[in-house]
Amino acid sequence: MQTHLIVEPLGEDDILTIVHCMVIDALSFPQPGFVAARDLPRVGFRAWVCRSTDSPEPWGFLGCLHHRDTLHITVVATHPDHRRKGVATALMRTAVLQARHARLSRVSLEVRPDNRGAIALYEKLGFATVDRIPSYYGPGDDALLLVLPLAQPKSRHKTRS
Ligand SMILES: CC(C)(COP(=O)(O)OP(=O)(O)OC[C@H]1O[C@@H](n2cnc3c(N)ncnc32)[C@H](O)[C@@H]1OP(=O)(O)O)[C@@H](O)C(=O)NCCC(=O)NCCS
Repeated sequence: MQTHLIVEPLGEDDILTIVHCMVIDALSFPQPGFVAARDLPRVGFRAWVCRSTDSPEPWGFLGCLHHRDTLHITVVATHPDHRRKGVATALMRTAVLQARHARLSRVSLEVRPDNRGAIALYEKLGFATVDRIPSYYGPGDDALLLVLPLAQPKSRHKTRS
């Protein structure tokens, strides 16, 4: 049977889904990247989950923070049982679409330089490395800063020359 993926917003009241996301988080990172009680109430924070049409449980989730003209992805993770099925791609595309609708200038994120799978995912979506941030994750543990610039739609009004 063909799997169809759905992306849905994660609400502060959806406790069961939040618990699933925290399990995915714990299975995906050495330290928590997503702390629901801290992140979900933050002004400008948005999160989505991705699941298949035949599963009530999320397969992956993404959190991001809207700050000024940037949408910053703070966390993205897919359950180890459901990787390489397009889950993170669907979530990232949703976040990018959201940033375009809000007419933001860019989408950004940090990633460890040795996280080749994640970097491959981001580069496939058009992100490029713009900086290296020394000791971002801890002493001697650098991060790469990746950015996807968003072209603003051209105005339909012609300007007089
Ligand atoms: C990185 C991560 C989010 C990718 O999630 P995913 O749902 O498996 O990603 P997708 O299925 O959408 O992958 C899309 C593409 O990204 C690339 N990619 C993803 N994971 C990869 C890996 N482990 N190795 C190489 N390329 C990879 C591939 O090009 C892939 O396309 P393909 O499967 O057709 O080859 C997932 O591996 C994960 O949760 N890792 C642990 C947490 C983490 O590192 N998060 C990112 C922190 S910055």
